[in-house]
Amino acid sequence: MTSPHPIVAVYPGSFDPMTLGHEDIVRRTLRFCDRLVIAVAHSATHQKRFLFTVEERIEIISEVFGDTPRVECVGFSGLLVEFARSVGARFIIRGLRAVSDFEYEFQMAQMNRELWEDQETLFLTPDVDYAFLSASLVREVASLGGDVSRFVSPTVLARLEHRFDS
Ligand code: PNS
Repeated sequence: MTSPHPIVAVYPGSFDPMTLGHEDIVRRTLRFCDRLVIAVAHSATHQKRFLFTVEERIEIISEVFGDTPRVECVGFSGLLVEFARSVGARFIIRGLRAVSDFEYEFQMAQMNRELWEDQETLFLTPDVDYAFLSASLVREVASLGGDVSRFVSPTVLARLEHRFDS
C-alpha cells in the first residue's frame, strides 16, 4: 500500500564520483524514507575543479541505482532548500564520517534551517569500512593509477578507468 504522505528526502552533494560510502548512506536512508532524490549540485560550496560534469555524474548515479525505483538522481542550481522544497522534501540527508566533518556540516545545517525552518537535516554515519573514504581521495588515487576497486561500484570504476586511460 502506498502511504498518503510519503516521506521524501534529498541527498545533496558533489558526488565526484559517487563512492561506496555514498551508496551506503543511500541504502540506509531507504530504510526510513519512501523516496530519495540524490541531488548533484551545480554550485557546491567547497569544490573547485571537477572530474566529471554534473550531467556525467547524474548519468553514473542513475546507472548505479537503476534497479532501485525509489531513488532518482537530478542536478540542481541555486539554494539547496529551494530545490528541496520544489520536490516536496523536508529532509536533507548528509553523511557524517568523522569529527572533522562536523563544523562544515553543522554550519550548513544551521544556515539551511535559517533559510527554511520546516526542513530538517539528518546525519547518517556510513559503515565503518567507509569511515575514511572520500570522493577527493578516490579521485586522487585513481588519477595516479592506484586501485580504487574496493571504494567504488563497478559502474563508477569503469568510468574512472575510461577517464584516466584517455
Ligand atoms: O558533497 P559536498 O560538496 O560537500 O556538498 C555540498 C553541497 C552541495 C550540499 C552544498 O554546497 C550546497 O548545498 N550547495 C547548494 C547551494 C546552497 O544551498 N548553499 C548554501 C548551503 S548552507
